[in-house]
Amino acid sequence: MPILSLASSDEIRAILLETHALWGEGMTLDDYIAFVRAQMESPWGRENFRYLVWREGTLILSSLKLYRLHARCGSRHVILGGIGAVYTPWAQRGQGHARAMLAAVLERLQAEGAHGALLFSDIGAEYYRRLGFRPVPSHEFSVPLTVIPTNESSSVVVERIRDADWPDVERLYEQATASDPFVLHRSSTYWAHWRRKEQERMGRLPEGVRSSRHWIARREGESVGYVLTVFEPPALVLKELIIADGTQETAEALLAAIRWDGEALGAVQLVGWWPPLAWSRFLLSEHIRPRPRTRELAMIAPFDPTLDVEQLAVWGDLFWATDHF
Ligand SMILES: CC(C)(COP(=O)(O)OP(=O)(O)OC[C@H]1O[C@@H](n2cnc3c(N)ncnc32)[C@H](O)[C@@H]1OP(=O)(O)O)[C@@H](O)C(=O)NCCC(=O)NCCS
Repeated sequence: MPILSLASSDEIRAILLETHALWGEGMTLDDYIAFVRAQMESPWGRENFRYLVWREGTLILSSLKLYRLHARCGSRHVILGGIGAVYTPWAQRGQGHARAMLAAVLERLQAEGAHGALLFSDIGAEYYRRLGFRPVPSHEFSVPLTVIPTNESSSVVVERIRDADWPDVERLYEQATASDPFVLHRSSTYWAHWRRKEQERMGRLPEGVRSSRHWIARREGESVGYVLTVFEPPALVLKELIIADGTQETAEALLAAIRWDGEALGAVQLVGWWPPLAWSRFLLSEHIRPRPRTRELAMIAPFDPTLDVEQLAVWGDLFWATDHF
């Protein structure tokens, strides 16, 4: 009878050797392994990230990454198991191992007191639907940079985010999402983990493949919003746009800054996940429209009747691309 257990260091290496071609993003094998290990070893990762295997004796039948996430749903604090990198070695495929492992993980999460599980599917919705996951809206957009308006006379000053600005970014996120009906909670250790992951990724990717471009907006010296983008030639990718003062002017100043930056870098398109919840109002225009994604489909398996996926879906997309694990 197979069992679920923590992967040993050698087992993680063996799995990463196989998944390198799929998820290595162009890193060397050693860099890819170091990239995953760095995430597991961050203070947040040590508490909230487990690599699990479904094994029969010493034989690995399937594997996944499991994160512990905290969210607010209305006024309720909920705990979600985040499932990523579901992988069955080639020799073991098609024998129901991933399905059995996922059923065991869901059972364990429930026993641990989680309210549900979350994943982003790259293989469509059907496989996970059979395990109790329900799709929530997942959209993307792409638009020529030239359609983004530039307002020369804005009183909002936009600058590149420096190390000293991150506490402001954390605060702006917290403040701006305080009345969102659903939000993933980000502690300071989570932010540190996210930044470390990004730095590790950028440092380990071949030159010119990707670069982070992050901007903060200030009005009269006060931070009022930020935007996180990544230049992935030939596109600029929008990862997160937070407008803490709720004004269109701040949104326009940040979008204009990324347009200029993108154009200077040689980008022609702005692409990305469609912003969640009411945040899309800052993007919506006659030129920018959401269309359903075919990959990275957000799905939630609720264990608790109050985690009502149909209700969640009514609010639109729920996640920024920065929430993807
Ligand atoms: C997806 C994966 C984990 C399934 O593992 P498995 O142990 O063979 O899964 P099961 O035996 O439980 O189920 C097999 C079913 O998975 C589904 N499946 C596998 N790959 C799929 C894909 N790319 N798209 C849609 N469904 C897929 C099929 O329904 C398949 O049924 P079939 O064998 O009748 O064709 C495995 O194929 C894998 O590791 N793929 C590469 C990594 C990956 O894409 N992971 C998913 C990330 S969201």
